[in-house]
Amino acid sequence: MILITGPTGCIGKAVVERLTSSGHSVKLLWHWGHEHLAPRRVSIVGGDVHNVQSLVDAMEDVDTVLHLASLRRDVGAERVEEVNGGGTRNIIDAARRAKVSRLITVGCLGAEARSAYPYLRSMGKAEEMVRSSGLNFTVLKSAVVYGEGDWLTAWLAGIATGMPLIMPLPHRGETRLQPIWVGDLAACIERCLNTRSTFRQVVPIGGPQSLTLAEIAQITLGAAKSNRRFVRIPTSMTHQLARFLAHCRGALTELEIDALSYNRTTEIGSVHRMFGFAPAKMRTKLSHLRMDREQAPLPVRFSR
Ligand SMILES: NC(=O)c1ccc[n+]([C@@H]2O[C@H](COP(=O)([O-])OP(=O)(O)OC[C@H]3O[C@@H](n4cnc5c(N)ncnc54)[C@H](OP(=O)(O)O)[C@@H]3O)[C@@H](O)[C@H]2O)c1
Repeated sequence: MILITGPTGCIGKAVVERLTSSGHSVKLLWHWGHEHLAPRRVSIVGGDVHNVQSLVDAMEDVDTVLHLASLRRDVGAERVEEVNGGGTRNIIDAARRAKVSRLITVGCLGAEARSAYPYLRSMGKAEEMVRSSGLNFTVLKSAVVYGEGDWLTAWLAGIATGMPLIMPLPHRGETRLQPIWVGDLAACIERCLNTRSTFRQVVPIGGPQSLTLAEIAQITLGAAKSNRRFVRIPTSMTHQLARFLAHCRGALTELEIDALSYNRTTEIGSVHRMFGFAPAKMRTKLSHLRMDREQAPLPVRFSR
């Protein structure tokens, strides 16, 4: 049995879909307070990563924990660290107490315990804890993820429909990223379950293209059938822009702006080398933007 934390997130939803359709038995750690949104077809247990006992209870009959619960909303650096760092510490503690030995997490390219950016710092600390946990861990250290419910294309599509004519791009649109489709990431996670070469490893992965933010915006707007003129905002004005746009539909949070602050890429063939399949090019996997464009260009988050 696999316990999945963060099952309502962008990655969590795709993984639940993937693992249940290929016959794995899963149990979902449903964040307390959102139980009314839980689906009926899978095993659900309420809990919170701040509450170790709820995690120990949730780990009964579990042999693998897939830890995806995290926070990247603008609620202050301390709170982000509490959920991402403290939550991971509690997961490790609970896994030891419940005698669960396998732990899989999704980390971030660019995350470092000494990063200047609160979200990347919290994820770097979480990664260090997992590495030194003594558990049979895998950290899939991922590039930025896109697909149903993601923040990146949701923001780009939101700006495209919410702002007249122009598309402001932070950091001049020059930051280089390597977007990976959430369905491909879910496939990598599934393969980690039984691929011994991923045991006790940090595995960097990314999509098949290294793209600047401007190129990503171009591809996304193409899929959303929107024309906007790019305005390249210099780094020195990027945070002012974020504050100015804070109340617009699809605006980026400061933490998300941070995640766009520097190049975060890895080896282009990483997924193929490690998992034996070719991940999709971004242009081919943006149907989540096209489908609901008339009514709701932003992918629906059912938990927020
Ligand atoms: N998305 C990316 O581009 C990307 C790239 C690399 C790595 N990652 C990492 O991959 C993991 C999953 O990312 P994601 O994009 O799927 O995140 P997400 O969409 O923000 O979802 C986060 C999940 O965590 C849950 N959660 C938050 N606080 C919790 C708490 N105190 N107790 C229990 N559950 C809690 C949320 O539930 P509620 O909404 O009900 O609170 C939600 O299900 C994260 O660790 C993230 O850092 C993401």
